[in-house]
Amino acid sequence: MSEDTYAAVDAFIEGTLFAAEDEVLAAAQADADAAGLPPIQVTPPQARLLAILCEAIGASRILEFGTLGGYSTIVMARTLPDDGQLITLEYDPAHAEVARRNIERAGLDDHVEIKVGPALDALPGLENTLPFDFVFIDADKVNTPSYFAWAVDHVRPGGMIFADNVVRDGGIVDPEADVHSAAQRTLHEQIAAEPRVTATTIQTVGAKAYDGFTLALVKV
Ligand code: SAH
Ligand code: DHB
Ligand code: MG
Repeated sequence: MSEDTYAAVDAFIEGTLFAAEDEVLAAAQADADAAGLPPIQVTPPQARLLAILCEAIGASRILEFGTLGGYSTIVMARTLPDDGQLITLEYDPAHAEVARRNIERAGLDDHVEIKVGPALDALPGLENTLPFDFVFIDADKVNTPSYFAWAVDHVRPGGMIFADNVVRDGGIVDPEADVHSAAQRTLHEQIAAEPRVTATTIQTVGAKAYDGFTLALVKV
């Protein structure tokens, strides 16, 4: 089995109706590519998982770390009820501008607020939106443990925290790994010592090669 096989299976899944990408998302991705954004958005099958989780818990307040071109933002915001709100945190103003246009075209600008700047700086200003139902952590990987710690304190019981890119091609178990992978080990030690969540990590393969995500339920 090779990365070609993983990508081919992802293409098959995407080609089926149940995880097909619609025109608005395809246009969002085309604009992100045209603007030179890195192609590191969630894959369509992963995006569908985020949407299923948000819908399953009836999320009306969603927080996202790392907007990029707004692909995952759009997918999650579409699940919101009429009075729902998604706040997404993005460091790079150029990424945020692409995302703003994509979110507007998706008809979701009434429900989505992009806060531009380092995510850690934005957190104290989120008091009016607390607590969150669902938090998607997908920004700078070295800060995933800090974002997770904040999320555990600010997600309601029964809510969920989803951290992307925790396996990093096996970097999580490589003692020589870079700081981004070392941070994922820290995340796991932190969760092991955190009685307020039930969590797991699932390894993934696909069009984005070998990685994985951590999913935590804040205990009721
Ligand atoms: N969630 C997106 C992908 C995000 S890629 C999707 O799946 O569609 C990661 C993003 O995090 C990039 O746009 C990057 O600019 C942003 N980022 C990096 N460091 C950050 C920080 N300190 N605060 C907020 N965003 C950051
Ligand atoms: C990177 C970031 C992501 O969110 C991702 O899904 C894949 C790669 C990166 O920073 O390289
Ligand atoms: Mg990611």
